[in-house]
Amino acid sequence: MNRPIFLLGFMGSGKTTWGKKLANHLNKEFIDLDHYIVERVGMSIPEYFQQHGEAAFRALESEVLKEMEGKSAIISTGGGSPCYFDNMTWIKDNGLSIYLYLTPKALFSRLEKSNIAKRPALKGLTGEHLLAFIEEKLTERSPYYDQAHIKVDQLNISLEGLSQLIA
Ligand code: S3P
Repeated sequence: MNRPIFLLGFMGSGKTTWGKKLANHLNKEFIDLDHYIVERVGMSIPEYFQQHGEAAFRALESEVLKEMEGKSAIISTGGGSPCYFDNMTWIKDNGLSIYLYLTPKALFSRLEKSNIAKRPALKGLTGEHLLAFIEEKLTERSPYYDQAHIKVDQLNISLEGLSQLIA
């Protein structure tokens, strides 16, 4: 049966990096949902947020997620995608879901070093404000992420370990 494998997790949890590695290792197609959206709309995610607002982004994100039905691919989702509409239920029913878990502190140290402007959901936050935001959002989103079929500690992942989970 063709079923997608979805990587879920907070911004900065390594979904794209691990998705690419895993797809390469398993010789499967890799799809980054954010990238897929960017190609569809012809503008970056920050530009889309600015021009159309977050609600329109969430609707589009949900729509493109459902286009993944039946694809035999490794798919990295956007950090918010499991947490809106019926998306998490759909993900569970239509594929295998893997949650890449990191603590707020670990996410903070990774996101602090990244380009915050590329992630409009972080609203340009830095320092203690960024950490507080991550803690709050992760608490809000965990009930969705925790529904994934498999939860892995991102700090202890190996390519072999991930591949075995999927086999
Ligand atoms: C978002 C995460 C982003 C992107 C958008 C919103 C979020 O994806 O979809 O900026 O709300 O968590 P990444 O998790 O790949 O950064």
